[in-house]
Amino acid sequence: MKMPKSAVLHDFGPTPLSFRDAVFLGLAKPQKTLPCQFFYDERGSRLFEKICRLPEYYLTRTELGILGTMGPELHSLLGKNARMIEFGCGSSEKIITILKHMNVGSYVPVDISKSALLELTRDVALQFPDLQIHAICADFTKEFEIPLPVRGGQQTIGFYPGSTIGNFTPDEAREFLAKTRALLGRDGLMIVGVDLQKNPEIIERAYNDSAGVTAEFNKNLLRRINQELNGSFELERFIHRSHYDAVKGRVEMHLESREEHEVQVDGASFSFLAGETIHTENSHKYTLEGFKKLAGDAGYSPLRFWTDSERLFSVHLLRSSG
Ligand code: AVI
Repeated sequence: MKMPKSAVLHDFGPTPLSFRDAVFLGLAKPQKTLPCQFFYDERGSRLFEKICRLPEYYLTRTELGILGTMGPELHSLLGKNARMIEFGCGSSEKIITILKHMNVGSYVPVDISKSALLELTRDVALQFPDLQIHAICADFTKEFEIPLPVRGGQQTIGFYPGSTIGNFTPDEAREFLAKTRALLGRDGLMIVGVDLQKNPEIIERAYNDSAGVTAEFNKNLLRRINQELNGSFELERFIHRSHYDAVKGRVEMHLESREEHEVQVDGASFSFLAGETIHTENSHKYTLEGFKKLAGDAGYSPLRFWTDSERLFSVHLLRSSG
């Protein structure tokens, strides 16, 4: 895929954590784990897009609704000609909704996946042909620099939608937010989408959909191990499990072995007991106050938040305290 004329790609050549290392490390632990970042190969990304359209997965449509209504107010709160950095490449729909209401001079999407970056850049350039786009291929959880001088007085705004922040532990989320402040500079702003704590039944339904797409998404990790690491996982020997832990305020996703058995991966053997699980994802849910406190501890002043009428989801506007 070619870059559109209005866009430039800055490739920092990030080296992703090796899938093999992560699998060998994770399956050797007493509580077996696999990092959730490995969900997103091509098939996994398509399954995630499907999840976002499921009736039970309220997060995406609720956030889009909020982003649509907060636009005019955001317009009045933000300076002209701002530079907008998006952390990670989700669907283009959210950034397009935001950009429609804002006076943005340049758009800087950052992602470790070059193909996801190119796809998003193409979609945004189609909608905003005059917008300058500087796509950065880098791991945004690590330190990186934006190779563009900030023009005098130009404000930088970060955008991190989708409650992706919930896939970090609260400590990691605080650390990530604190790091972003170096990129945003003094008086930089950050817009973050955060899923809220609510009736556990609503949350659990979102991660246990009736069409079984989330189960497919979860088991895709085993399929990937079979394809890429010569694994011998039999998918039907595992059950998709998701439950909401109200004390920890998070959904935990696991793959549970139905019976005692052994699996081979790249010549090594891993044994499973009946009922033993691989922990594949955490998805933290916050209270409004809880998230504001976390943002404050990361050096941000919470300025404003928006929610939907049922208080399912929230979008926060934070100011970097310099
Ligand atoms: C990407 N992330 C915010 C999703 C979530 O809700 O934690 C990933 C997901 N896992 C299961 N369904 C969706």
